[in-house]
Amino acid sequence: MTQSITKEEAEKLVEAAREASRAAYAPYSNFAVGAALLDFNGKIYTGCNVENISYGLTNCAERTAIYKSVSEGSRKFKAIAIYAGIDNYCAPCGACRQVIAEFGNDILVIQANRNGEYIINTIDELLPGGFRAEILKGDTNE
Ligand code: THU
Repeated sequence: MTQSITKEEAEKLVEAAREASRAAYAPYSNFAVGAALLDFNGKIYTGCNVENISYGLTNCAERTAIYKSVSEGSRKFKAIAIYAGIDNYCAPCGACRQVIAEFGNDILVIQANRNGEYIINTIDELLPGGFRAEILKGDTNE
């Protein structure tokens, strides 16, 4: 089933992501990203990117938010907003798409920019044909 989100909810989530980007630890890329995750209890969990001198250990804002929420007992998500202070939208990387999809195919992904604009897609649209639990369980495609 496809989720829906009100304009007010979406904009509140974008604002939380924008605020979260202020905490970004990004001394190598200087690219601050914030994420805000809305669960079905209406609670918002935020995250920022956390870089490391061993670059590959960097954790993106989206995964920070998801790991925070799951570790606090919340894992049913309606939407996640991603904010970067640029004119483009900050598209989630492939690893984050896989991690978002772990918790539901119809989670809404809101990409927001510094001009107050945003676009909304489901995670299934952003990760079509991705590895899913059904595959591991051996369910057929038929
Ligand atoms: N980054 C995120 O946090 N989220 C994204 O959606 C894209 C990229 C971070 C990782 C790294 O710290 C910086 O942005 C540049 O790639």
